[in-house]
Amino acid sequence: MITGMAGWEDVMTCLQKIKERKQLSMNLAKIKKFFKKNRYEKRLAIVRNTYTFVHHHEFGQIGKGSYFWNPIFLSGTRYMYLGKKVGFWQHARIEAIDEWEEQHFSPKLTIGDHVNIGQNCHITLAESIVIEKDVVCSARVTITDISHITDNVNIAVLNQGLMTKPVKICEGAFIGINSVILPGVTVGKHAIVGAGSIVTKDVPDYATVAGVPARVIRIRNDL
Ligand SMILES: CC(C)(COP(=O)(O)OP(=O)(O)OC[C@H]1O[C@@H](n2cnc3c(N)ncnc32)[C@H](O)[C@@H]1OP(=O)(O)O)[C@@H](O)C(=O)NCCC(=O)NCCS
Repeated sequence: MITGMAGWEDVMTCLQKIKERKQLSMNLAKIKKFFKKNRYEKRLAIVRNTYTFVHHHEFGQIGKGSYFWNPIFLSGTRYMYLGKKVGFWQHARIEAIDEWEEQHFSPKLTIGDHVNIGQNCHITLAESIVIEKDVVCSARVTITDISHITDNVNIAVLNQGLMTKPVKICEGAFIGINSVILPGVTVGKHAIVGAGSIVTKDVPDYATVAGVPARVIRIRNDL
């Protein structure tokens, strides 16, 4: 498990590590002064780029400028393939599971460029979750491809194993605050999932869905 970024202090820690690892002569005091002088966006870019530089070998892939804010629970990073400028806000749990009791899985989390995921998100997978480019997930969104098997009433649910169905969220979709995307669901291109929705079925391209369970309330078009 690796951790996310907490901000400026982490940049200094990371730079210190780089300095030691590469035996570079770096004037950290000068870098600190430069960092403080720059605008917020530039400082954020420095934080993000430092993070990907330091951690890229721990991920299947992590594109430049992607980052995770602390505190975070991040597990199975070698199964995660992230594009450029993917941002995760605080308190996320992102977990790729390759083993559960005696079951073995080959999980893969694929996230496209410029995906932004709000605070307190929960992403768990044991097979496949694909989040295409330019998707926005608001705060407290759950996306999972896992369900517990519940067939045997005499065995605790926890001890019956897991089943999986892949999930896909297509490019440009917007997932509203407090929503849940359940196993097997595909959310279409540029679709909108209203706040607080539980999505149990596929969402067509350009549709707006809302409610529990989520139903189509509108098909958006360019008129
Ligand atoms: C779904 C949403 C995008 C509105 O879409 P819209 O096409 O403009 O829909 P409308 O506001 O015209 O509402 C249409 C119907 O859906 C209902 N509805 C809208 N949003 C809903 C929701 N989240 N859950 C349940 N029903 C909802 C409305 O009450 C209305 O019902 P009615 O016809 O019985 O009166 C918006 O309500 C929403 O949920 N936005 C997400 C906000 C969010 O997560 N922000 C986080 C920012 S980081």
